[in-house]
Amino acid sequence: MSKVTAKIESAAQTDSVTLIDNASNKSVELPLLHGTEGPKVVDIRRLYAETGFFTFDPGYTATGSTESKITFIDGDKGILLHRGYPIEELAEHATFPEVCYLLLNGELPTPAEYEKFEHTIARHTMLHEQITYFYRGFRRDAHPMAIMCGVVGALSAFYHDSTDIDDPHQRMVASHRMIAKMPTIAAMAYKFSIGQPFMYPRNDLNYAVNFLYMTSAVPCEEYVIDPIVSRAMDRIFILHADHEQNASTSTVRLAGSSGANPFACIAAGIASLWGPAHGGANEAVLKMLHEIGDKSRIPEFLKRAKDKDDPFRLMGFGHRVYKNYDPRAKVMQESCHEVLNALDKKDDPILELAMELERIALEDEYFIEKKLFPNIDFYSGIILQAIGFPISMFTVLFAVARTVGWVAHWNEMIEDPHQKIGRPRQLYTGPSQRPYVAREKRR
Ligand code: SDX
Repeated sequence: MSKVTAKIESAAQTDSVTLIDNASNKSVELPLLHGTEGPKVVDIRRLYAETGFFTFDPGYTATGSTESKITFIDGDKGILLHRGYPIEELAEHATFPEVCYLLLNGELPTPAEYEKFEHTIARHTMLHEQITYFYRGFRRDAHPMAIMCGVVGALSAFYHDSTDIDDPHQRMVASHRMIAKMPTIAAMAYKFSIGQPFMYPRNDLNYAVNFLYMTSAVPCEEYVIDPIVSRAMDRIFILHADHEQNASTSTVRLAGSSGANPFACIAAGIASLWGPAHGGANEAVLKMLHEIGDKSRIPEFLKRAKDKDDPFRLMGFGHRVYKNYDPRAKVMQESCHEVLNALDKKDDPILELAMELERIALEDEYFIEKKLFPNIDFYSGIILQAIGFPISMFTVLFAVARTVGWVAHWNEMIEDPHQKIGRPRQLYTGPSQRPYVAREKRR
């Protein structure tokens, strides 16, 4: 086993790391790069050429895949910034379209910019009428995430005029189309699943209200807007908008690095988000709470969560980056109480069970030692269920909100002059080269 010694010479802005291969006594000096926030990074782009070594980091626990200016997370302090603005302040004072503009353009919009952006997005909310026939091809009980994967992947068959990724105007149109059409696609998946007619988007309603209208209104009567619910919906979208290089965003970047069209990249992101370890966790949290059923069974499930031989994990707890409270979970918890009080569901047994589970888990040695705190998915499902969405729609709503993060990172990647196709290497432990053996000679 050859040994490599690392010597870190840290100066003001010219830090470097020298790696010395003790076997050959060869050494290589690698620059340490500084961000505006967060850890320094070792620039290993010359490592293989100069040492013949790869690095090894399954799950990218300590690997930066890109430079980005969009979102910063400090997992130890529980900090989340979007273009420098704390998530708590955006959730309190901004609207989701405002956060969309910020993520896409880097600055909060002026009143005139905001009005123009809202006008633009509103006029992209309709889908090509042929797309409505896609839904009729699915079974009524199809999971809405399966429908969303299929419909979004097919959008490039309809919107040819915004698939040239080298044209900044077409990239912007594709980005606006995705942000605008995802609520319509999601609402249609929901209406289809309950056998109700599609409700077309309305340009006189804001983003969150328009989505609630398309999912909840029926042609037979006036739709009454509940301001508490629509504000909660807008806040849920804000809290889910972006989160640095998470699995689905990294999927979108990797798909986009090959030059794939934006709609195909977003469809790839939706597929990745669906997993229960990622965006599918909100659906898994509600299923878990219903399975626990009663406070008396919490110890049994905590025991299972700690049992290495049991694949069960406490859904809605833990995070790759946050080793403190997920700041979004705190805002989500506040919203949860607001909405349930407003809907006169404050005695919701599921909420009570969730709060008791959170209390016990946060006092449990295992969760404290492993720094497993509630994440954004722990409370979101309780609100969504209280608003009236079925559990199968929870990850769909996450995808609606995260689309702006996906397209912001997709654009940033394409505009990055250093961008290359993503192509990780590996540690190969399979058989070394060996000759083919004719079938009749195999024993
Ligand atoms: C999201 O990346 C993002 O930013 C994602 C997201 C975003 O906005 O995009 O924040 C959204 O996906 C939030 C996470 C939702 N997922 C869940 O709630 C599912 C339950 N959580 C776990 O599956 C897990 O915590 C992960 C996947 C979220 C993080 O896993 P890691 O970082 O790979 O950590 P790990 O699996 O290595 O766990 C570290 C230790 C392990 O024990 P040891 O092997 O060290 O003994 O903690 C244990 C794990 O067994 N552990 C848990 C646990 N989560 C981790 N044990 C019980 N219950 C859990 N929930």
